Amino acid sequence: MTLESVPPPRQRIHLVMAGHVDHGKSTVIGRLLVDTNSLPQGKLEQIRELCARTARPFEYAFLLDALKDEQAQGITIDAARVFFKTARRDYIILDAPGHIEFLRNMVTGAAHAEAALLVIDAEEGIRENSRRHGYMMSLLGIGQLAVVVNKMDLVGYRREVFERIAADYGRFLDEIGVKPRAILPACAREGENIAAPGPHLGWYDGPTVLEVLEQFEPERPPVDKPFRMPVQDVYKFTEEGDDRRIVAGTIESGGVAPGDEVVFYPSGKKARVKSLEAFNGPPPARAIAGQAAGFTLAEQIYVARGELAALATEVRPHVTTRLLVSLFWLGRGPLVKRKDYLLKLGTAKVLARVEEIHRVIDGSTLAARDGTDRVDLHEVAECTLQLQRALAFDDPEVALATSRFVLVDDSDIRGGGIVREALPDRQTWVRDKVLLRNFKWEASFIPGERRAERYGQKPVLLLLTGPRAVDRKRLAKELEVRLFNDGRVVYFLGMGNVLYGVDADLERTGNRAEHMRRLAEVANIMLDAGVILLVSAAELTAEDLELIRASVGADRVSTVWLGDRVTTDFRADLVVGEDEPLADAVERLRNFLHEAGVLFRPW
Ligand code: GTP
Ligand code: MG
Repeated sequence: MTLESVPPPRQRIHLVMAGHVDHGKSTVIGRLLVDTNSLPQGKLEQIRELCARTARPFEYAFLLDALKDEQAQGITIDAARVFFKTARRDYIILDAPGHIEFLRNMVTGAAHAEAALLVIDAEEGIRENSRRHGYMMSLLGIGQLAVVVNKMDLVGYRREVFERIAADYGRFLDEIGVKPRAILPACAREGENIAAPGPHLGWYDGPTVLEVLEQFEPERPPVDKPFRMPVQDVYKFTEEGDDRRIVAGTIESGGVAPGDEVVFYPSGKKARVKSLEAFNGPPPARAIAGQAAGFTLAEQIYVARGELAALATEVRPHVTTRLLVSLFWLGRGPLVKRKDYLLKLGTAKVLARVEEIHRVIDGSTLAARDGTDRVDLHEVAECTLQLQRALAFDDPEVALATSRFVLVDDSDIRGGGIVREALPDRQTWVRDKVLLRNFKWEASFIPGERRAERYGQKPVLLLLTGPRAVDRKRLAKELEVRLFNDGRVVYFLGMGNVLYGVDADLERTGNRAEHMRRLAEVANIMLDAGVILLVSAAELTAEDLELIRASVGADRVSTVWLGDRVTTDFRADLVVGEDEPLADAVERLRNFLHEAGVLFRPW
């Protein structure tokens, strides 16, 4: 095929159906398929016959069910998506059967909806979900919305009924700050005002449903926004001696090209893009928003799934452990404080707790209540979330996709929303230094994995802490000897080793945080060298630990508490009793390191 003969890509738009149960969402879609001749030859007749044979009344919704199992026009229709095309463009419709599916599609679905069609039954009128879905869309930032007042046949096609619903719902949308593109009457079952004006709706002179759809603008992939790619996976080349990795993901905004400096957050590690990779065919000169992309790096830094890639030259994402969010709660049980939920944003997953609930609103009635410590089913809340580790994300104005999140409890999506603001946490001052340090870090030609392979271990900082009176150093040093004799690359570092050297310019007292920061910086260098580092320090607190984790990376720190009574405010990975024989304790720590995947050569 010559270049000239390649047709320009067809415009496509993703649409989501919303509305109360049984108000006619599937019928509207079915009718659109029929009226735009999008069905495979004979499909409609086949379903009608089947209904006649089984003495069931024909439903347009059956068309959708029938299509789900087969190929239509060369595109597979999957569980929730329906395709049809007009001369102008292709439509992909998400027929979300419930709240959770709706939210899942919006936040985690492969296709983010760009526009929504909300269906209201003229006879039943506005119901809770008519409003809730409207609210969810406004919260998730779907700007384009049209409302179909369906089943006009059931109210005798009366203009007053339509106008009352249009006025009421219009007022509701206005309150939540949404401007609908159109509110229009229709009778999906008879095809009135779906693809053509209806004979019974003579008093109406606005657009048909199809005309409104054709007027929606496809959201241009945000190519001119800052580059953002949540890292989906890191693939290793299989060739012997080839250290290259392909960092892969879907680009949510902006673009990237070879030679660009990419920074990965929350760590802030930086490397140059060496090459773009394509799974089939030649790689593009630049990969842009909306595309699945893969690239290799010129410097061998460690990158993992869950990080967010950005460009060094562009505005950077926020990194913090405290978020101000607006969220929807869809769980049967309430969202409460003092409970861990899993927050998913982009490809990142992190444990989250509710620190404060500022305001709660009923998503349907818009009634607000203050001073509460729970969020019930179908309520919308403004909360502060405290995360177990730092997360990278964006303001909705910068990149919508990397500001939307879901909350998971018991492996089910229970809520979701949007991050409104990055709040400072106790580590903000350290993190800023760490981001700069990582940004400026001079990476070795030897990737960390090569060191790990040679040493048969992963670098880790093992913090041994406990009451002042308990002898931590003894255990740490015995463990060092044991690991050394095993052939491990291990090093013991006492707090005193840092205090009088690296910290010589600091007052002994009143500078705890800075002492900790320097200790962590030393540890970070040792970990980069591939070492298992054993540090003993008295009475570490959660705040110290947070600081150290922010500095060296949370997944590279393990903690041991020595003492019968745990008097600290964090939960140590391991507790060793005061009376435990030294040899047993050493063995237990060694086992722990093995189970944690730190020691991985036969031993
Ligand atoms: P769920 O997917 O269950 O939430 O329902 P839905 O919103 O997809 O509704 P569906 O399209 O399945 O329609 C529900 C019922 O309303 C069906 O029996 C349809 O035949 C009927 N219906 C849909 N549109 C019209 C209409 O314009 N007039 C009348 N009289 N009935 C309609
Ligand atoms: Mg349906």
